[in-house]
Amino acid sequence: MSNNIESILQENRVFKPSESFKKQANLSESDYQALITKAENDYEGFWCDLAKEKLTWSKPFTEGLDDSNPPFYKWFSDGELNASYNCIDRHLTDKEDKLAIIFEADDGAVEHYTYKDLHDEVCRLANALTAQGITKGDRVVIYMPMIPQAVFAMQACARIGAIHSIVFGGFSAEALRDRIEDASAKMVITANAGRRGGKSVPLKAAVDEALEKGGDSVRKVLVYKHTDDAVKLKEGRDVSWHDAIAGMSNYHDAVMVNAEHPLFLLYTSGSTGKPKGIQHSTGGYLLNAHITNEWVFDLKDSDVFWCTADIGWITGHTYVAYGPLSLGMTMVMFEGVPTYPDAGRFWQVCQDHGVTVFYTAPTAIRALMKFGNNLPEQYDLSKLRLLGTVGEPINPEAWMWYHQVIGRGECPIMDTWWQTETGAHMIAPIPGVTDLKPGSCTKPLPGIDAHIVDENGVELTHGEGGYLVIRKPWPSMVRTIWNDDARFVETYFAMFNNKYYVVGDSAHLDLDGNFWIMGRIDDVLNVSGHRLGTMEIESALVSHEWVSEAAVVGKPHDIKGESIFAFVVLNIEIPDEGSERMELVQALRNHVAKEIGPIAKPDDIRFGSNLPKTRSGKIMRRLLRSIAKGEEITSDISTLEDPSILDQFMQPNK
Ligand code: WT7
Repeated sequence: MSNNIESILQENRVFKPSESFKKQANLSESDYQALITKAENDYEGFWCDLAKEKLTWSKPFTEGLDDSNPPFYKWFSDGELNASYNCIDRHLTDKEDKLAIIFEADDGAVEHYTYKDLHDEVCRLANALTAQGITKGDRVVIYMPMIPQAVFAMQACARIGAIHSIVFGGFSAEALRDRIEDASAKMVITANAGRRGGKSVPLKAAVDEALEKGGDSVRKVLVYKHTDDAVKLKEGRDVSWHDAIAGMSNYHDAVMVNAEHPLFLLYTSGSTGKPKGIQHSTGGYLLNAHITNEWVFDLKDSDVFWCTADIGWITGHTYVAYGPLSLGMTMVMFEGVPTYPDAGRFWQVCQDHGVTVFYTAPTAIRALMKFGNNLPEQYDLSKLRLLGTVGEPINPEAWMWYHQVIGRGECPIMDTWWQTETGAHMIAPIPGVTDLKPGSCTKPLPGIDAHIVDENGVELTHGEGGYLVIRKPWPSMVRTIWNDDARFVETYFAMFNNKYYVVGDSAHLDLDGNFWIMGRIDDVLNVSGHRLGTMEIESALVSHEWVSEAAVVGKPHDIKGESIFAFVVLNIEIPDEGSERMELVQALRNHVAKEIGPIAKPDDIRFGSNLPKTRSGKIMRRLLRSIAKGEEITSDISTLEDPSILDQFMQPNK
């Protein structure tokens, strides 16, 4: 058996761009070919031309890529600009009255902000931050609900050259403290509380708890009063947002910074160790944020764009806080959850605000698909013209539902592969150009040198699975791990002698040059010498009519190496213990055998009402691995949405 990861899932349907889409697309086939050719012949010139064309510089750069100290690459490093200026000020000449943000709160209240409003809010806050002693290079942790003020806070930091680090509002006080301490943050910006699904989510209380036992670098806590919940301010440390901006001017001269000045840190968890502070640049980051919104989402002046991601994740940075604004677009922000007051909420928001381009995660699509076609059919979704997904491979069944039921069979679906570390889309379709295959993120964007290699770094062509790598540095790549250059090199570059950026995903190519992501490398199973991607097995399980979600992990096995352990959420009632349950287990095993092959049959299948997920929807695989091994769970489960489901999954079938 070869050592390469075997790919076993076959998907042959192809969806070509429609003539009507092509006619209006930002990039035509010939534009695309020209970009590909330019990137091949003059890689540095390709990026420099784009950076000059798309961004506004206060001091033009003369240097493109600085690769004198690999893998610490720099881009445009003698140029100066400001991200907030690029997202706001440069649009004021012709778009002052254009809507920048349409906000819908959890309770349905709607607010509108024009580019002029956005400018005024951000400038007042930038002046307030300065008055509170925050200056260029200071780290500011933002721990906020999904409300416009979160974007104001990010933009205000960018405006004065402070480095923001968003901590997702669903993280615990402990997780918050770790991140504050690692970044030595001088300020925390928070709200008294957020609202999700009709309930209050306290935030200020968590900040207090985090700072009780540490976080000594924090001088000030700025508190936005978002809900009616009472809030106590600590004398000398806490400042009310409302008081801080009172009397502040709506004029602020954006502080121009070097292109390499860190725009933000964003902590992401690795498979081991403490979270990594992914450090992004200003110029390079903004460039890829800008062009991917233009190329992949085809955004135009007339669009209303809605990316459902929280600002706590990279998607909420690149496709909420920076990218759409850099293009001068109108976007929707939504505070709530997809299932409140019912599972039609996303479709109601799309209808009410005339959303034309919609971007969400496969996990949300699968969850909403469970409720059937009835809910989306109650809403007018006719304005939608393009759909996107991100976060994991989308299983073909969910793709088809998204395409048919949400997109009327007309909207192209952009399956966008990227990571916190890449800053922006890397492998993704161009909607007027690329043929789509459900489940594939298709091809690398122009200028992105993605390849699949074996463990010796030898390039693999079609069929064989291997390591996904990016061979050439690109502008929006991670610059380092905050305070840990050694870990940066070790995590992303050491595997192939610092030559390639190692993504950490396995993937394979098909005959048409499409990329198929098979899963994280540490999610690859080795079953009797066959290396199998867990996601392909999950996809097979989910294609069974009774399964709505599945997660697969490996369990050490004496003979096979690893056995396959599946955790399944059904869209029917879980059958009682006894023969009915055992029959279902057998039916699911046979189904996987039929879809993929007998080698992929799960050895164990457990049922529960939901998968253990973080509040952001990421499946907590380490918990599932512990359950599979029959270990006690001793690790931190504070970020878990619903801890009771672990007990369900621990019960063996009888
Ligand atoms: C990992 C990155 C990028 C923003 C959200 C997650 C997986 C992401 C896809 C996709 C298959 C995908 C990969 C990647 N992933 N998008 N379209 N198809 N897998 O950011 O937390 O940094 O996670 O998510 O495994 O490495 P992240």
